[in-house]
Amino acid sequence: ATPSSGNATQRLPGAIIIGVRKAGTRALLEMLNLHPDVEVAKAEVHYFNLDENYRRGLDWYRAQMPLSRPGQLTVEKTPGYFTAPLAPGRVRRMDGSVRLLLIVRDPAERLVSDYTQVLHNRQQRHKPYQPLEELLLRQGRIDPGYKALQRSLYHQHLGRWLAHFPREQVHIVDGEALIRDPFPELRRAERFLELPPRISPSNFYFNATKGFYCLLSAGHDKCLDESKGRPHAPLSAAALRDLCRFFREPNRRFFNMVGRSFSWC
Ligand code: A3P
Repeated sequence: ATPSSGNATQRLPGAIIIGVRKAGTRALLEMLNLHPDVEVAKAEVHYFNLDENYRRGLDWYRAQMPLSRPGQLTVEKTPGYFTAPLAPGRVRRMDGSVRLLLIVRDPAERLVSDYTQVLHNRQQRHKPYQPLEELLLRQGRIDPGYKALQRSLYHQHLGRWLAHFPREQVHIVDGEALIRDPFPELRRAERFLELPPRISPSNFYFNATKGFYCLLSAGHDKCLDESKGRPHAPLSAAALRDLCRFFREPNRRFFNMVGRSFSWC
C-alpha cells in the first residue's frame, strides 16, 4: 500500500493480527501491506493487552493507525493480544465484526524461537540468562509453568477468543507454509479479508543469503531484519523429544478447535 493525502484519515483497524508471537507475525503484516487496499500500523500498538494503553481510550488507539483512504483496510499486529486474557472481550467491545488473523507455527519451534528472542534481548542489556533446558525442565521433566511453553498452548488462548468471536471470524495462517512459499497463504488471506486479489507471486523472491523470501514492490526490495530468522538456541534431542510428546495432546485439541491439522512434531 502507498500513503496518499486526499481523503486520507486514521481509522480503526478492520483486521488485527493477534499473534502468535514468533510465528511470523511481522512477515504476515509486511506481506499484507503489499496490497494496494491495505494500510498497516508499522509498530506494534499494544492497546488491548496493556492496561496503561487501554486506559488512554479509543481516540488514542485510532491515533496509532496509519492514514488510509475510504475503502482501504487498516491492519495492526500485536502478538501480545493472543495470550492476554482481557484482549478478546476488549476487541469485541471495540468492534464485534473485526476480522482476526492468527498465524501459528510448530509450538516446540515457537518456544525455542521465543526463548532465543528473550536471550538475545538480555544479552544486549548485558544480563545473564539461564540455558533453555534449565527453564524448560524441572527435575528432568517438562515444566508446564514455563512462560514460553504456556504461550505455545494455542488451544487455551484461542478458546478465549472463540468465546467472543465466531470461528469464521478468525483466519488461521500456517507459519511454516508462509516461510516455504508465501504467495498461497497471502491469496487465502486476501480471500478472508474480502480484498480483490492484488498480491502476486512476483512480489516475492527467495533471498539465498537471508534464507527466506523477501518482498518486491514498486521496484523496492525488502527483507525482514536480522531479528527474524536467526539461529535458534540449542536444545538436546532428548528434551526436544519430550517437548514434542508434551505438545501432542494440546495440539490435538487445537486441531479440533480449528478444524484442520498441521504436521508439527
Ligand atoms: P525465527 O527467527 O525463529 O526463524 P515474528 O515476526 O512473529 O516475531 O516471527 C518471527 C519468525 O518469522 C521468524 O522466526 C521466521 O522464521 C518467520 N518468518 C516467516 N517468514 C519470514 C520471512 N520472509 N523472513 C524472515 N522471517 C520470516
